[in-house]
Amino acid sequence: MAVTAQLSTTRSTSTVLVVSVAAFLASLDLFIVNIAFPDIRKAFGSADLGTMSWILNGYTQERLEVAMADITMLILADHAWFREQFAKLDDLQAQTPANRGALDRVWRPLADKLDVHAYIEEKIFYPQLLKRGTEDPEGETLDAIGDHNEIRDGVRDANAARVGTEPWWAAVGRTRLANDDHMGEEERQGLSDFRRHAPAGLREALGRQYSEFMAQHPTTKGLLIADRDPRSYVEDFEDARQSEPTDHSFGSLGIGSLKGD
Ligand SMILES: [Fe+2]
Ligand SMILES: [Fe+2]
Repeated sequence: MAVTAQLSTTRSTSTVLVVSVAAFLASLDLFIVNIAFPDIRKAFGSADLGTMSWILNGYTQERLEVAMADITMLILADHAWFREQFAKLDDLQAQTPANRGALDRVWRPLADKLDVHAYIEEKIFYPQLLKRGTEDPEGETLDAIGDHNEIRDGVRDANAARVGTEPWWAAVGRTRLANDDHMGEEERQGLSDFRRHAPAGLREALGRQYSEFMAQHPTTKGLLIADRDPRSYVEDFEDARQSEPTDHSFGSLGIGSLKGD
């Protein structure tokens, strides 16, 4: 129990640290723009204050969007969203009588996004981690695919039960546990490894693909959501890599079609 509590505290501290650094960088960026404001104003000559405010907002927004285009940041943002949705279920669980409609409105999008998130990570993030990672990317990928299977199993079991019943809460609980464990590990291992060793341009290119895919797939409709054998996943990647021509650029990300398996 003490170890679990300590791990939980460590994870919470890491999350707070990541969010704090992001907030600090965003504030710093805004601060720099404000210092440069007189020069920017000179450059725009006769623009009035309203127009300048619009230009300033546009610049700041663009900087934030560039920072958020990094696939590792987009994955982190989704992880934060997952935690929020499970917290909403806590609030709903405390209500009597149970509000099944409200539970369903939180669970359905959460269940879909958990599956779509794992799907796209396996499609575009883990193949690139296997290529670019330097800290046991194979081990990190094997762990991740195994964890994704546990999350998929939990989602499938919850979807097979009636919302708000005991079996449903048990399956939701298993999903949450598997997902919490996985997110902490993925953030400490794969995401950290990739952020430190993959070029920024690649992270942004993958981030754009990730965003587009998530926007096109608000649900799992049309996607084959199925468990994968972790060892076969890594071996298939190695086989495909050996038959690839040697190309160290990332103009082609080598991720295959995003339209399905
Ligand atoms: Fe993830
Ligand atoms: Fe994952």
